[in-house]
Amino acid sequence: MTLTPERRTLLPMLGRTHGTRSASVCHWKCADACVRPDENVSGSERFIDVVRRSAHVSASRRTLLGSSAAGAALATLSFAGPAAAAPGGRAGKPGRPALSTFGFTPIEPVPAEVDAFTVPAGWRWETIIAWGDPVEARAPRFDAANQSPESQKRQFGYNNDYLDIVPLGGSGRRGLLVANHEYTNDDLMFPDFATAGEAKRLVNLETAMYAHGMSVVEVGRRGTHDAWKPVARSRYNRRITLDTEFVLDGPASGSPLLRTSEDPTGTRAYGTLNNCAGSTTPWGTVLSGEENADQYFTGPVAPTAREARYGLNTAGRGWGAVQSRFDLRNEGTRNEPNRFFWVVEVDPEDPTAAPVKHTAMGRFKHEGASVRIDASGHAVAYMGDDNRFDYVYKFVSRDTFRPGPSQAARRHNTTLLSEGDLYVARFNGDGTEDGVFDGTGEWLPLVVGGQSFVPGYSVEEVLVFTRNAADVVQPTAMDRPEDIEPSPVTGYVYIACTNNTRRSQAQVDEANPRAANKDGHVVELIEDNGDATGTTFTWNLVLVCGDPADPSIPTYFGGWQGEVSPISCPDNVAFDSAGNLWVSTDGQPGTIGYNDGLFLVPVEGPERGHVQQFLAVPTGAETCGPQIKVEDGYILVAVQHPGDFADATYASPASTFPYDGVFSGPRPSCVQVLPA
Ligand code: FEO
Ligand code: CA
Ligand code: CA
Repeated sequence: MTLTPERRTLLPMLGRTHGTRSASVCHWKCADACVRPDENVSGSERFIDVVRRSAHVSASRRTLLGSSAAGAALATLSFAGPAAAAPGGRAGKPGRPALSTFGFTPIEPVPAEVDAFTVPAGWRWETIIAWGDPVEARAPRFDAANQSPESQKRQFGYNNDYLDIVPLGGSGRRGLLVANHEYTNDDLMFPDFATAGEAKRLVNLETAMYAHGMSVVEVGRRGTHDAWKPVARSRYNRRITLDTEFVLDGPASGSPLLRTSEDPTGTRAYGTLNNCAGSTTPWGTVLSGEENADQYFTGPVAPTAREARYGLNTAGRGWGAVQSRFDLRNEGTRNEPNRFFWVVEVDPEDPTAAPVKHTAMGRFKHEGASVRIDASGHAVAYMGDDNRFDYVYKFVSRDTFRPGPSQAARRHNTTLLSEGDLYVARFNGDGTEDGVFDGTGEWLPLVVGGQSFVPGYSVEEVLVFTRNAADVVQPTAMDRPEDIEPSPVTGYVYIACTNNTRRSQAQVDEANPRAANKDGHVVELIEDNGDATGTTFTWNLVLVCGDPADPSIPTYFGGWQGEVSPISCPDNVAFDSAGNLWVSTDGQPGTIGYNDGLFLVPVEGPERGHVQQFLAVPTGAETCGPQIKVEDGYILVAVQHPGDFADATYASPASTFPYDGVFSGPRPSCVQVLPA
């Protein structure tokens, strides 16, 4: 390991990585995770209870498109059909409104070099806010050539991932847009990234640091069919940056494992990093997962096994030159990384409230967390640890949800994620001779009732070193479990497993059925007796992704036998109110040669598995944070890392998205898609 911060980051890869992203995205987003050793070397995948192992999806379950595959013109979708009105559908609810205004003809797959945002006929798109746009009062206008820490800490950050518009009042015309800023590509942001002298290099570095974090922006629209616009000088507008104080709450708060020389109490942390997916809670706050935070730290020189499990042995980004806590060779900083990798909760309605990092929900490379309220009233959060061979987790609150609009109820509900039980999932296959990838599963206890269930680990140790603790109880090592979301109609839970090109034939199991899995799959998890607080479930694979036009890659589309849009690398999942699943992707250009996009996937009724592409993002981008607001007349997506290629720079961009002339290069943005 080299601990000398690099003067100029020379991308160490050529072209595509061993994963599916461009070398540039892999470098800036995840610190070259695609080419680094796997962080889970516990071997727990070898111990799972797999009755049969198989390398091939049953041919009888495949959906092949034949000659018309990739460019197939697909039938017009009736939204009234899939979930709501299907006779014999497992849980369709009669009497739901027909959603015909959201009918669309799926788009053709868009070749990966096309720099365009593509929507179906009859639809239009419009940017709500983009990197550098003013957020807080006194924020200057975006000036790409002269960005500074002072401007950036008040402007919209870079590479927004999760986003939502939380309603404000009951008019449907006011809302609070909440977005997070996962990472930066400094080579695309700064004209002098490669040439700046030392003083300016540090200014650029600090500017990039302030482009991380989160944003809260009031938005408004004249009528409920009009486009959302930012509201300048709203009292709600707020940047959350490395200066923002967070509360570390829950059972590990104050633990010696969380103390540093900067915070000897172990109860306060500054900033949030590498925030990926998220969700809006039933009580109106926003959750965001801290993911690949290891890349910001230099060192430690000799990581312990527990630290190495979190990837902590990198050269970092040189941030220690700006804030000493990011160089772990400095006195009193060793526990600083323990104050990241959490689920954070932000209350967008209270700009004065300190955001919270919830230690009760465990510490790992959190993709996100999605909350449902169980029939018992407990808040249940599903969470993925997005690394190859990592795990699916569940948190069950100790206390129960208090309904109603009162401030007292809201205050109570914001404490629900502070205390509760933490589990990790084991998926048992029942054999593939039944032609279905399915089986039963168990939620293995890590912390229940305030007690550790992991031999050799205290409660604090389980919560701070959750990955290591989970290894002990041998959960199922998954193919990068990312976003997880329960259906608002059935309560079934959907897990996007993006890909895992490192899985060997010997490591194949029924829940991760393909070796060198470049295209990913989606797991459907059904809690036994509909009890989300329980410890047993059944599961099956609803999608085994890929391009059916390529017969060398087995695919499965929920039993649907007709045409589908090719789909690869499922990342984020969302639902419309009728219970249709929507999947956004991250990595299609590297696997099937098409720009990433957003796809409708009915999961109930006769059209279960009928994948239909709704939109495609520009070249180099991934599609994040989808919100499907059918009744409210819009869809939201984040366009993250547009034009992000290894050979692209500020001076030589690969994309000019969002094509508004404000900047000669790409700007990551929040986009709304509306009926034309
Ligand atoms: Fe930030 Fe798991 O992708
Ligand atoms: Ca089976
Ligand atoms: Ca993601």
